[in-house]
Amino acid sequence: MNEINHIRNFCIIAHIDHGKSTLADRLLEITGTVEKREMKQQLLDQMDLEREKGITIKLQPVRMNYKDVQLNLIDTPGHVDFSYEVSRSLAAVEGALLVVDASQGIQAQTLANVYLAMEHDLTIIPVMNKIDLPAADPDRVAEEIIGLLGCERKDIVEVSAKTGKNVEQILEQIITKIPAPKSNTNQTKALVFDSFYDEYRGVILYVRVFDGNINKRSSIKMMATGALGEALDVGYLTPKENTCDSLEVGEIGYVVTNLKSVSEARVGDTVTLSAEPAEKPLAGYKEVKPFVYAGLYPDDADDYAQLKDALAKLKLNDAALVWENENSAVLGNGFRVGFLGLLHMEIVKERLERNYNLQLIVTNPSTDYEVSLTTGEDIQLRSASDLPDPTQINEIREPWIKGEIVVPKEFLGKVLELIVNARGLQENISYLDDQIALVTFSAPLANMLTDFYDNLKSSTSGYGSFNYELAGYKVEDLVKLDLLVAGEVVDSLSQMVHRSEATTRGREYVAKMKDVIPRQLFEVALQAAIGGKIIAREDIKALGKNVTGHLYGGDVSRKKKLWAKQKKGKARMKKFGKVEIPPEAFSALLRKD
Ligand code: GTP
Repeated sequence: MNEINHIRNFCIIAHIDHGKSTLADRLLEITGTVEKREMKQQLLDQMDLEREKGITIKLQPVRMNYKDVQLNLIDTPGHVDFSYEVSRSLAAVEGALLVVDASQGIQAQTLANVYLAMEHDLTIIPVMNKIDLPAADPDRVAEEIIGLLGCERKDIVEVSAKTGKNVEQILEQIITKIPAPKSNTNQTKALVFDSFYDEYRGVILYVRVFDGNINKRSSIKMMATGALGEALDVGYLTPKENTCDSLEVGEIGYVVTNLKSVSEARVGDTVTLSAEPAEKPLAGYKEVKPFVYAGLYPDDADDYAQLKDALAKLKLNDAALVWENENSAVLGNGFRVGFLGLLHMEIVKERLERNYNLQLIVTNPSTDYEVSLTTGEDIQLRSASDLPDPTQINEIREPWIKGEIVVPKEFLGKVLELIVNARGLQENISYLDDQIALVTFSAPLANMLTDFYDNLKSSTSGYGSFNYELAGYKVEDLVKLDLLVAGEVVDSLSQMVHRSEATTRGREYVAKMKDVIPRQLFEVALQAAIGGKIIAREDIKALGKNVTGHLYGGDVSRKKKLWAKQKKGKARMKKFGKVEIPPEAFSALLRKD
């Protein structure tokens, strides 16, 4: 028997909440991989952060057996911040289940991943989930799926992952429709589609073996980074670890290595054997580059060394994380950190705070800019406060994105308005069916970072979904918007903005700051300025009398409590001249109100 013909590798493409985890659980159960009673434990094992956010950042790759076929399921993270990882997951398999919620329909994020899957020539099996829901609208959703894939209604498997109805049909289709892996050489090549650092064991790789095999104890080489190591253990997940002697051609599994950081074994790299290395790596390796930057400062200046240490530790497990030193007059010593997007930023902040017991101040995120100087030199600008004097600047370029929005057609007008307000350019409108429109557009990335997504959700009653990718840099008329508190520029609050948006932004900005900076004993002016010219102003009135004044009489303990609370709040305040600025002020632009 030719073993490779008995392997099927597939992934699940689904929008958040459309039921990917529930369906995966059912598949594990039906194939007898995991008992029902173990299921709960498995869910409990997920990271806290994921559970709280209600999203799976990543599921583990699992192996199941159905009839005499080995099925390997790997995950595609559902968020645009991790789109390179998605592309590597798709490159590791031959087929994909497209799971669509029967009460919701296709969303922009799913669409982008379906196009990627088509580019990778994957066999796509459409699955309509949640048919048990009273709000399910199978006819409409089927029409959307048919419009997208060009399949027939009978090709769509209609299931309830919750009750298990029809789920077994999916397994049958995987076996009959998805092709078995193919290999044409014996030289070992395995694609790393995920890697992470385990404090006790070193770097663990999740790989798909394309050619040859990887034995336990073999010496391995990472073809892109050149790192050499040993496969201390190999095996597969069910989802618990099952060690085996060798990962064979076509299979998916894990490799425990003695490598010390994921920077040595990045997603997309090719594993080969150092004794007989393959000539050429698998295609598609790229180093992901951050494009969102924010200042990260310890709340308490004494924690600087601890923050530095924590970032270095986090980096062992997150090759995309980069930073450089940054110094701010008001916040002291900190770091300018690069992220893959806002979700990545939030995850990093929360991990630093939870796992390393730090309290952090994160400044308003911005993109990076390319600045050409009159001297002919080009610089990469990651913080507005580093912008050289305008007389030394030839041009400034900002990153633009290509975006896609999927939305019911009755909201189309609102969506086009949102795009224009974000300085975007509408490119095309097409229809997935007679209800759902797909709008493609381009826009400056900076305007996608703060409230674009929230505005899209609120102006489409939650129905609009959005996806984007970077599209390059464009020369624009950009200026530095400074924020002055009591007449002085606060460096960490400066922002790059488009000249046409400067006044509106300036006004919004001072209004937001007025909300977060508490009243002081004297009147404080908040101003927005460009190159010294004031374009917006708000005043914070002076505080009248002591806040405890109204608690007259003998209630000393209550007074003391209030004083203690004030003192604690004060300790977190940043002193700027005579004015005290709370930490929230530095990320005011991220606030949802
Ligand atoms: P993320 O982990 O956030 O990416 O979501 P997911 O796609 O993995 O969705 P998940 O499996 O967590 O399901 C989301 C919600 O839908 C949960 O509350 C499930 O219980 C529910 N759900 C999943 N499948 C079905 C189904 O077939 N019918 C019904 N009624 N609910 C379902």
